[in-house]
Amino acid sequence: MTVLELRQRFRKDLAPLYGQNEIDDIFKRATAFLFGWSSLKVGLVPNDILTDEEQKSALNMLAQLKAAVPLQYVLGVSHFRHLSLNVDPCVLIPRPETEELVQWVLDDHSEDECHVMDLCTGSGAIALALKQERPSWTVSALEVSAPALEVAKGNATKNDLDIAWQHADLLKDTIDFSTVDIVVSNPPYVLPSEKKQMHANVLAHEPPLALFVPEEDPLLFYRTIIEQVKRSSSKNIPIYFEINPLAEEAMNVLNVQHGGKASQMKKDLFGKKRFLKFEQ
Ligand SMILES: C[S@@+](CC[C@H](N)C(=O)[O-])C[C@H]1O[C@@H](n2cnc3c(N)ncnc32)[C@H](O)[C@@H]1O
Repeated sequence: MTVLELRQRFRKDLAPLYGQNEIDDIFKRATAFLFGWSSLKVGLVPNDILTDEEQKSALNMLAQLKAAVPLQYVLGVSHFRHLSLNVDPCVLIPRPETEELVQWVLDDHSEDECHVMDLCTGSGAIALALKQERPSWTVSALEVSAPALEVAKGNATKNDLDIAWQHADLLKDTIDFSTVDIVVSNPPYVLPSEKKQMHANVLAHEPPLALFVPEEDPLLFYRTIIEQVKRSSSKNIPIYFEINPLAEEAMNVLNVQHGGKASQMKKDLFGKKRFLKFEQ
């Protein structure tokens, strides 16, 4: 099999799942990971023949991709801001929008000393990015899933960053915010009724615990977080949320109910209302 034939095989096998530009991007990233190929390989040496070993490993990777396993799980790695994070199917693959949530916190806070807490940390993406970009801050992070927390801890070691991890259930346990200055969270916010519009690879492979909230209570995590923070701390702690754009109206109501007079909403890079800073 030649280099060009391999790309044709990717295009054919992955066509039911992805558009051609996306397939070509997957092909480049997969072959860079496997063989260190440059993105110009197909253009420069289309007729080079793969060794048996190369062909075997490329087709093995393609088989997983064809089964709708996201590329990041196949490679075991995802990138978030300046971090390389290990990911497996017990953690959500960090999204580009969430990088903007981190940026909002950084833009608002340049103080040297600060304790920021990331709730629902998953792979640790938000907590680790904040610690990397504000090394003098104290960063803690909470997660209910023990396997996810192990991935997050591994990512802290991999990136040589120090985080205070907490294994707890936000919906059941009482969380102590008495020393916390800023809260940030990207909690589960997808409604089961949104499944129809979701990509097969997300539905079949990303952890439901990270994605879904009950249809009848879409704001469960936001309400609980605001109530927990207000109960535990007398300070006016800003809470930076990633939100479901479909829940914009309901989030506004929740904000007013909880006295979020100084709150702000922001759009993401796709122009969707995606973030809320709750502040009294
Ligand atoms: C949308 S993911 C966000 C992961 C990561 N913060 C990110 O932005 O990529 C939500 C995370 O919340 C965790 N989670 C779900 N229910 C929880 C609960 N009751 N208490 C704490 N964490 C919870 C999930 O396991 C998952 O890791």
